[in-house]
Amino acid sequence: MSRKIWVFDTTLRDGEQVPGAKLNLNEKLEVAQQLKKLNVDIIEAGFSASSAGDFNAVKEIAEKVGNTDDIFITALARAVKADIDAVYHSVKYAQNPLIHIVLGTSDVHVEKKFRKSKSEILNIGVDAVKYAKTLLPNVQYSTEDASRADFEYLWATIEAVVKAGATIINVPDTCGYAEPEEFGELISKINDRLKNVNDHVLLSVHCHNDLGMATANTLAAIKSGADKVECTINGIGERAGNASLEEVVMSLNTRSDAYHAYTNINTKEIMNTSRIISNLMGLEVQVNKAITGENAFAHSSGIHQDGLLKSREAYEIINPIEVGLEDMELVLTARSGRHAVKNALQKLSFDSLTDTHFEGIFEAFLELADAKKEVYNHDLYVIVENYFAKHDNLNQNMTHYSDHFFELIDLQVISNTHFPSASVKVKKGDELLEGSSGGSGPIDALYSTIAEISELDLTLIEYNISSVSRGKEALGKVKIQVEYRGEKYMAKATDTDIMKASAFAFINAINSIIVDHFLQNSNRAHFTTNNG
Ligand code: KIV
Ligand code: ZN
Repeated sequence: MSRKIWVFDTTLRDGEQVPGAKLNLNEKLEVAQQLKKLNVDIIEAGFSASSAGDFNAVKEIAEKVGNTDDIFITALARAVKADIDAVYHSVKYAQNPLIHIVLGTSDVHVEKKFRKSKSEILNIGVDAVKYAKTLLPNVQYSTEDASRADFEYLWATIEAVVKAGATIINVPDTCGYAEPEEFGELISKINDRLKNVNDHVLLSVHCHNDLGMATANTLAAIKSGADKVECTINGIGERAGNASLEEVVMSLNTRSDAYHAYTNINTKEIMNTSRIISNLMGLEVQVNKAITGENAFAHSSGIHQDGLLKSREAYEIINPIEVGLEDMELVLTARSGRHAVKNALQKLSFDSLTDTHFEGIFEAFLELADAKKEVYNHDLYVIVENYFAKHDNLNQNMTHYSDHFFELIDLQVISNTHFPSASVKVKKGDELLEGSSGGSGPIDALYSTIAEISELDLTLIEYNISSVSRGKEALGKVKIQVEYRGEKYMAKATDTDIMKASAFAFINAINSIIVDHFLQNSNRAHFTTNNG
């Protein structure tokens, strides 16, 4: 039988501890609203006693996001009255408030960090739970550094705090030291004993990723009886981060045969949540990160693309639609084979090409792919058009695709404190178009100018820049998302000049919109040739 696993999201507490990831109140509210859409069971909204700002953010989230019966709101407290009061006074506005108390259990925490005896620490924990219970019925107790603690002391602590009224026992692998088999055994032992003390208490785990084991340890704990998991989006968190929510959830979904457990997560909101958090916190997701990385569903090798086109199961274990993506992505590069290129052409409605036509087009594709990193759909249109133009077979009535696409010719961007501005020259077919305008910064000026020239009503919703190599030849990689008539378009580009990379990315997005327009108005005969 399949068991429900509670998902406790700590992106706004452990995740926000990442240096530089601090969010303001509105950003925290946006993240919390999105976590609610994702359908997490519990949001840890912050560490209320740490600052007035954190207190206020937890309070607002409790009021505005915790206003329904389907979600718990909590915040972290050390085992001291002032912290517990701060949590209580900030979470009490939620329909389901929860107090979360943490106190160390390992010898190093007890003896070195607190410089107290084990029994003194145990009593502090019990008193903290007893006090929290006078304020709220739901209290979680975290046995910090449990995976390195002496087991009998850890169990004595758990038994005592459960008797004092704790409703959730959380077993953290605080330093990411645990190993899956050993952590599974620890959870199994605690689970067996806990059931005999109080089988209504939820057993939870919180794993860190210092050895890259956070997801594996969390899953091992689920197999051993854990009822609840603590995770963050994109696995962000202190040091190497926490167990990644999307990895744990999709493992349970994909391998239900192994785990016999499920969560209530709305998996279709995973990508959206990941992007929102990555953008707001300025923490880029590693490109090959499982589930939410840019390449997680992108297939580039010719052998894989061919296999996927024959049967998706050959190289795909999760349908990308399940996590909120549109579909698998077959990236067209010089390594793509004929099958992938033919498939891409068919998707653009070039489905009646003869073998001779296709071979000529494939040759031109390889030439371009050797010169460019990736070949896009608008490039394919131009390749096909050029091929037929060159072979003198062009039907006079056909659409001249290249007349509609934009190409960057030149740009000048001025960055200063008073009036950042940009001037841009682009080509649209044979037409040379120019424009210039100001903006709140150089990118705003650049994008406003290109948008004005294109006459499309575009909204930039995401802009991300990173370096992909080192030294003087370093390439700037720009990834953007724009919205046009309610549809979102992602685009990217690289160049040693970051302004050029930014302009190329924006123009790629515009060309994708134009491709979409062609497809929507596609009359399949638009590329017939004189001889059929
Ligand atoms: O890593 C840890 O032990 C924690 C606790 C507060 C659960 O973050
Ligand atoms: Zn932690």
